[in-house]
Amino acid sequence: MKLLIGFVIVTLFSAISAEDESRAHFYKTFNKLHQEPPPPVSSDTGRILDVKTNWITQKLDHFDGSNDKTWQMRYLSSDKHFKAGGPIFIFVGGEWAVSNGYLVGGHMFDMAKEHNGYMYYTEHRYYGQSQPTENLSTENLKFLHVKQALHDLNHFIATVKKEVKGLENSKVVIVGGSYSATMVTWFQVMFPGVAAGSWASSAPLLAKLDFTEYKEIVGESMKQMGGDDCYNRIENAVTTLENMLVSGREAEVKSLFKLCNNFDANNDLDVYTFFSEMSEIFAGVVQSGTKASIQNVCNQVMNSDDDVQGLASYVLKQTIGKAACVDLTYKAWLETMSDTSNTDQIMRQWIYQTCNEYGWYQTSGSKLQPFGSKFPVDLFINACRDAYKNDFTNFAIINNIQETNEFFGALNPGTNNVYFTHGQLDPWRAMGLQEEGKATILPEYAHCKDFGSISNNDSEEMKASKEAVAELVRKWVAA
Ligand SMILES: *[C@@H]1O[C@H](CO)[C@@H](O)[C@H](O)[C@H]1NC(C)=O
Ligand SMILES: *[C@@H]1O[C@H](CO)[C@@H](O)[C@H](O)[C@H]1NC(C)=O
Repeated sequence: MKLLIGFVIVTLFSAISAEDESRAHFYKTFNKLHQEPPPPVSSDTGRILDVKTNWITQKLDHFDGSNDKTWQMRYLSSDKHFKAGGPIFIFVGGEWAVSNGYLVGGHMFDMAKEHNGYMYYTEHRYYGQSQPTENLSTENLKFLHVKQALHDLNHFIATVKKEVKGLENSKVVIVGGSYSATMVTWFQVMFPGVAAGSWASSAPLLAKLDFTEYKEIVGESMKQMGGDDCYNRIENAVTTLENMLVSGREAEVKSLFKLCNNFDANNDLDVYTFFSEMSEIFAGVVQSGTKASIQNVCNQVMNSDDDVQGLASYVLKQTIGKAACVDLTYKAWLETMSDTSNTDQIMRQWIYQTCNEYGWYQTSGSKLQPFGSKFPVDLFINACRDAYKNDFTNFAIINNIQETNEFFGALNPGTNNVYFTHGQLDPWRAMGLQEEGKATILPEYAHCKDFGSISNNDSEEMKASKEAVAELVRKWVAA
């Protein structure tokens, strides 16, 4: 009897984990695009001992005076360089868990050293260990909003200025990358005068439902770094795959990509999910890439005589992990983002924010990209509705996006103390301020690549941009 129960439990367990394994690629691909911008110094350096983990009490709802619920927000700090009266440098957390790397090295660290500054790194509500609610039910997620997070940041600044000796009159400089670059810009819109200046690396500012430019830039950057052959191979392979799926060759496609049997070529949402995930894998290559890493991927894609074979073998290496088959159904994707208990992940929270505030769906809506036409914005509108139980209709999402643009000013935020940088390879720059004189574009760099210390490895443009930040910070902290 005991043996039988043991056997049943083991079978049950392996059944569950086999299912998880076959879907794990959804988290992997998503996390690569939304992880903490890789810290300038690895978090396991010896200097890590200088960093303290602390907690601050925050209101759950900054907009409802009658709600007195609170929660604990995590933040990291280092007073290694601090001398009384020195400025405050805050690296602002976005949709990821904070780590020590930004407080032990890199350009912000160097500037804090120059000015005897106090360094902080704040974690965004609902990400990492900063969980205001016990789970991620749609009801609980209503307190997840950038405006709430900006209030958290404002309260954080007021609190440390009041409570930490020597910071009473300190100037504040805030630094962010990607979504947190958006935040350091919008903080100036919502709380003008609190922070002397912001450095925003790779900040999207324009909320947009159908973000068709994203995959265009992924394609351009692959072409620029990996060559026409690589771009053409992806484009030809995707076209062939689209045709195979509508002409009764589903079994061949399934076998090439080791798709689990539940994949249904007659279900549009499955087909959309398949092509979307494939394009996202390449998005990850470009967004976080370097010239060398993009070339390396192109070499792998070109390592076959056949377009479809070349693409499939590369994609399969990214998706299969330890699984026996790859689940690329819409249902699996939806269930991944519907898990309300999994606060270790960031996908449910971030996609909620896109439905509720930004859109930014990186669709196949443009013909000027190599990933085909099979992941229209409908895929994401369906996901908003299905993952958060009917709160988001097409109409509601469009309204939310418009509200965001009206409130924060989109490409005209009206700020004069924010330094904007973008990587030329970075697909996100299309939603940012790129006008000459208003932003610095760094040729041949991807997303958030300018946080390291000034180094001989930097391009001329990179070095000049970092020096420009340092010069501005000197003005901001002196003023
Ligand atoms: C989620 O948390 C709420 C309380 O915030 C609780 O009422 C609800 O039962 C929880 N849901 C699940 C699925 O645990
Ligand atoms: C500069 O590049 C070299 C070679 O890629 C590398 O070994 C070194 O660590 C880099 N130095 C810095 C400061 O990034």
